[in-house]
Amino acid sequence: MRLKGKHIILGLTGSIAAYKAAYLLRGLVKEGAEVQVVMTPAAKEFITPVTMSALSGRPVASEFFAANDGTWHSHVDMGQWADLMLIAPVTAATLGKMAHGIADNLLVTTYMSAKCPVYLAPAMDLDMFKHPSTLQNLEILRSFGNVILEPGEGELASGLHGKGRMQEPEQLVEEVVTFFNSKKKLLNKKVLVTAGPTFEKIDPVRFIGNYSSGKMGFALAEELAEAGASVTLVTGPVSLATTHPSIQRIDVESAAEMHQACLDLFSGVDAAIMCAAVADYRPKHAADQKIKRTAADMQIDLEATADIAASLGQLKTDKQLLVGFALETNDEKQNALGKMQKKNLDFIVLNSLQDAGAGFGGNTNKITILSKDNNAQEFELKHKREVAADIVGKLIQELAKL
Ligand code: C5P
Repeated sequence: MRLKGKHIILGLTGSIAAYKAAYLLRGLVKEGAEVQVVMTPAAKEFITPVTMSALSGRPVASEFFAANDGTWHSHVDMGQWADLMLIAPVTAATLGKMAHGIADNLLVTTYMSAKCPVYLAPAMDLDMFKHPSTLQNLEILRSFGNVILEPGEGELASGLHGKGRMQEPEQLVEEVVTFFNSKKKLLNKKVLVTAGPTFEKIDPVRFIGNYSSGKMGFALAEELAEAGASVTLVTGPVSLATTHPSIQRIDVESAAEMHQACLDLFSGVDAAIMCAAVADYRPKHAADQKIKRTAADMQIDLEATADIAASLGQLKTDKQLLVGFALETNDEKQNALGKMQKKNLDFIVLNSLQDAGAGFGGNTNKITILSKDNNAQEFELKHKREVAADIVGKLIQELAKL
């Protein structure tokens, strides 16, 4: 009974694979889970609510109101009750609605009210699965932190062969069990994360900045919070929102402000991940008035900023972990190892600008984690949220060794 007492919403949509949901539900209930089934109207064409309510021991929720007495089915209550929401199978249509907030059925409203992690097991024909609209919607949903349980390759209901087959019920039950086992490993841990660029003022309307979007640092903050940590996210100017209640966000602009915020916070945390792209130099003097254009060339004198990671490295105790990033263009590993040593980091996350899809701005990253013991762990190109999960996994391992 590996899921005893766990509350799971099982969402069903109108796909042929809906017949497998009966086995999936049976598997979850056998493991002790309490399961509330929510079906879209189309799902009922593929499997009956009677089957699902009999197997779950609860009435299936499908309409906003009960037809006989007008009772309101509260998607808000369901969303708060659940520890996990699993939609299996999820169709291209429902993925699209979820990605764009088209809340025209009980399943999508429940999804939008859910306070818990959401797992999605797509099932569709191979051409629909590889259509740009599906791929884009999956990308959006990943950026919300939803986990996509990738469909497998195989025979499809259409008779065609390809990618789009929903994972088998037994596999899905294992995914759910793994989720509950691995969750909350950072409970009672405090983690500081820096993110984004810094802006160094030239005059009241101009600055020196960089292309960092903050996406990697924000994904890390969300992932750490999901793992139970209390996170303080010190971020430079970015256009990203934080949603998780365990993330305290501190907005700063310059390297000096970020440095001060980190110095104030560091003694109170168990770990710090330095993900920000901090300016190395700032104008020596910021002009009070807007600098006027003149015919002559102009020069701006620059001075070095503080190296935040290095100064935390000097303060670090043996009960704390410090993690840095290295974005390199050449001699990647050697440079990264040098930085780890110089800044007294416990491990460093290397991304090379030579790898397509890695680095600033985009939604993906390809990293290598280098540790003090000279161990290099290379990862595939992945969505930044999944990259964050790999980094948090490494952090959990290293914290356990302290
Ligand atoms: O030396 P470099 O800038 O490449 O080192 C990158 C690492 O150091 C990153 O973890 C970055 O967040 C951190 N860093 C910092 N303060 C600086 C410069 C870099 O914390 N002024």
